Amino acid sequence: MKKVMVIFGTRPEAIKMCPVIYELRKRSEIETIVCVTGQHKEMLNQVLDIFKIVPKYNLSIMQDKQDLFDISITILQRLREILIQENPDVVLVHGDTSTTFITALACYYLKIKVGHVEAGLRTYDLYSPFPEEFNRQGVGIIAKYHFAPTDEARQNLLKEGKDENDIFVTGNTVIDALKYTVIDNFTHPEIEWVGDSRMVLLTAHRRENISSLQKIFKGIRRVLDEFEDVKLIYPVHLNPVIREIAREEFGDCNRIHIIDPLDVVTFHNFMAKAYLILTDSGGIQEEAPSLGKPVLVMRDTTERPEGVKAGTLKLIGTQENKIYESFKNLLSDETEYIAMAKSINPYGDGVASKRIVDIICNR
Ligand code: UD1
Ligand code: UDP
Repeated sequence: MKKVMVIFGTRPEAIKMCPVIYELRKRSEIETIVCVTGQHKEMLNQVLDIFKIVPKYNLSIMQDKQDLFDISITILQRLREILIQENPDVVLVHGDTSTTFITALACYYLKIKVGHVEAGLRTYDLYSPFPEEFNRQGVGIIAKYHFAPTDEARQNLLKEGKDENDIFVTGNTVIDALKYTVIDNFTHPEIEWVGDSRMVLLTAHRRENISSLQKIFKGIRRVLDEFEDVKLIYPVHLNPVIREIAREEFGDCNRIHIIDPLDVVTFHNFMAKAYLILTDSGGIQEEAPSLGKPVLVMRDTTERPEGVKAGTLKLIGTQENKIYESFKNLLSDETEYIAMAKSINPYGDGVASKRIVDIICNR
């Protein structure tokens, strides 16, 4: 019996790892142990509740306004005893958060094999996104198995000299997750509030964007003031710094609703109903092409070039004027809108989790 431990800590890791856990649990030759660091609390629990996953361990590390030192030190300390006690054959981590990197580091110290799900994404700019670019490169050095979502990600790993026998192109497990979430005839009071208006969905949370957030929001607000047929819904990340700026900039606009983070089923269905999406999120850049929703990405770089090539994503940076112009253009220019609103899925066929688990079983 092979012992596989799945360790994650934030909302996006949970959304993309729950389908892998479902698949692991189907295999009789595998003992699956789920451990969460609790880097996120409410936002993580929302996902665990939806997928009905009860972790064996929860390190409960989250603190209000935690910094990178708080997260790193606490995870490393609390994970040590658990890893020694469980001594798994493989630990699976996901993506690029501090939970991901610190877990891989702990495994390295204990000489435990690491499988990296969503491996090989790169901007090659260590400060954009920060600290995610370092985290995924760091995990890439440690990992034994690299589960790359696309061939482009595989090429990055090959360029870095990883052994081709340890790299597997599997698709992205987020597409597996979408199979569980998007439903017909979805309705919600916020969707009813939007009515016949065009619905814009906004998310913004990146650490390196927080100092520009006020300008970003001002650019968006100027457009809302000009387009009376547009309503914007902003499910705000629970980071108190972000919530305060959002309230300041948007609080008095009656065509903007600032709401709490949505559970993933509701959020995916909001995406499916949206006219367009404004975001700095990574995961949303992968989901939107499948749903045929134009996305203006409020970042200077992306490690998800597949969606840009597919035409669904456009990088618009973080400057107020550029955001104002790009957002306004997309609302006004129907030809550009139609060109972006194509449903193309560069991230696989929805069976990435099965491929990952097959590989683990056969190794
Ligand atoms: C983290 C990841 C980022 C990922 C994002 C997904 C790192 C360094 N950052 O960033 O890569 O894109 O998650 O959302 O790993 N909070 C709550 N409740 C929650 C979650 C957060 O109150 O359920 C608040 C806390 O005050 C916390 C703060 O948000 O201190 C920031 O959370 P943190 O995990 O440090 O950073 P994120 O910006 O969420
Ligand atoms: N998401 C969600 N509820 C929300 C906002 C986002 O479930 O209110 C989902 C979204 O569909 C995507 C993931 O959360 O799957 C993205 O997470 P986030 O933006 O926090 O992190 P990133 O992907 O940037 O690391």
